[in-house]
Amino acid sequence: MKKTILVLLLCVLPLFCYAEYPVTGHAQVSGDGKVAAASVNPDATTIAMNVVKRGGNAVDAAIAIAFALGVVDPHNSGIGGGCFILVRLADGRVIAIDGREMAPAAAHRDMFVQDGKANPELSRTGALAIGVPGSVLALHKLQREGGKLNFSDVILPAAELAEKGFAVSPLVADRMVSTAKELQKFPATAAIYLDKSQQPFAANTIITNQDLAHTYRELARLGPDYFYRGDFARKTAEWMKKNNGLVTRDDFANYQIKLREPIVSQFAGYTLYGFPPPSSGGIHVAQILNILENFDLHKTTSSERYHLMAEAMKFAFADRAHWLGDSDFVKVPLSLTDKTYAKKIARQIQLDKAVNNAVHGDPDLDIPHLMNKHTTHIAAADLEGNWVAITSTINTTFGSKVVIPGTGVVMNNQMDDFSAQAGAANAFGLVGSDANAIAAKKRPLSSMSPTIVFKDNQPVMTLGAAGGPTIISQVVQNLLYTLEFNMPAEIAIKQPRIHEQWSPDLLFVEPTMHEQVRNALVQKGHEVKLWPNMGFSQIIQLRDGKLVPVAEPRVIK
Ligand code: DON
Repeated sequence: MKKTILVLLLCVLPLFCYAEYPVTGHAQVSGDGKVAAASVNPDATTIAMNVVKRGGNAVDAAIAIAFALGVVDPHNSGIGGGCFILVRLADGRVIAIDGREMAPAAAHRDMFVQDGKANPELSRTGALAIGVPGSVLALHKLQREGGKLNFSDVILPAAELAEKGFAVSPLVADRMVSTAKELQKFPATAAIYLDKSQQPFAANTIITNQDLAHTYRELARLGPDYFYRGDFARKTAEWMKKNNGLVTRDDFANYQIKLREPIVSQFAGYTLYGFPPPSSGGIHVAQILNILENFDLHKTTSSERYHLMAEAMKFAFADRAHWLGDSDFVKVPLSLTDKTYAKKIARQIQLDKAVNNAVHGDPDLDIPHLMNKHTTHIAAADLEGNWVAITSTINTTFGSKVVIPGTGVVMNNQMDDFSAQAGAANAFGLVGSDANAIAAKKRPLSSMSPTIVFKDNQPVMTLGAAGGPTIISQVVQNLLYTLEFNMPAEIAIKQPRIHEQWSPDLLFVEPTMHEQVRNALVQKGHEVKLWPNMGFSQIIQLRDGKLVPVAEPRVIK
């Protein structure tokens, strides 16, 4: 009887519960309060603050973090990978810089298919997994557009760190353990990231990366040409030839960043800027929130609210699997972010029962104006009006596991983000269609969702996340809690997270969610799977004229 009353109470109250996490230095504000930054590593954030002391703004701070993370957080991001940069500059311009990897010219649709079946080993580890990296050119462009310092000023602090030595963070140590066997296969990788007996380093061991320091110093001296036309491209092409890879010097020389039109949408009285294809992030964050606004969320119980979120995610991810790909190659329907289309989906969602939507929806295929309006995450902002959101990745842990000898750079395995074959799941279990099939010079579909929020045309929040497809779900939840429920970002970020990506049709839930709420979700027909510490978000909010940076509390070990 008592239990029934408790369950009833939990179902009636619009209850929010969250876990407590330790407070740390991953998020910092400069001494004068004018610049804020948040990242997954306190050393990287400290480097950014030092750059600010030397006259840098939020743009300089964000770029300094990106280079520093390549040193101290090398399993997540670095110049061997790609990134999406969304920035609102002090002069009011909003720019979306696409630094996503490109498939080499020799790539082709069935390159990972062996004996009629996609071989994930080929798309995830070693030479063929590697796309042409875009981060260097993207960060350089950002620096040119909005930085106050020189490109070398934001690279050299990271070079120094790589040279003098840095402590292996508990997070990196963890990843070294989980990937040691694969790292052992590549001598240049093992030489840096494993000890003399080929074993992972213990947390807090001081290590160096002299080759990376050299690469950074050359980049600082010669600019992106060193990477795309110089020694870096030459060394990579030589290694590729010896290891049956496809990337050539021409691929490097032909790499281009693209300036994209952001996805612009409205939610809860705010204007959201998101990243367009080849990311699916901007489209689906907008789509999920558009679906949710058809419900009076303030009158729902916790379990109903989670249920509605899960259902909205399910419909959006079904559309992602069918419609999304590199819009330079395929036509992505512009009306996926249309409010009318969202209404149509909302009508199919039931409050008490999970819907089995076996197929994607059918958005109108042509409303061009909508698009026109429109893995580690770095957030930076300053009171001059620069707001930066960079999501940067080498894809899965230590990417392809390849360090090109002599460079110290870990290369991405972003080729796995393509659909290797219809129905074949990638590392995140995501399936795709022809829209995301491999082609020469195409960019693989991403979930990265750098986002900037405006109120009355003024920027008030920058956010994003890491964690594969959960990036979309995390950004949605952070937006929902801050914008619709007015929670401060540091509370919003602690809410138990959920993720549902249609295929597999499972509802991933953090164990911090109250058991009764979880049970209510099971009763609605969700197959609930527990997933602790789902994702990594960083947020900066403007509150009462002050910058409040919030780093992901779940990363702290
Ligand atoms: O672009 C994407 O969506 C993925 N390559 C991101 C990878 C990621 O977030 C890995 N984190 N778990």
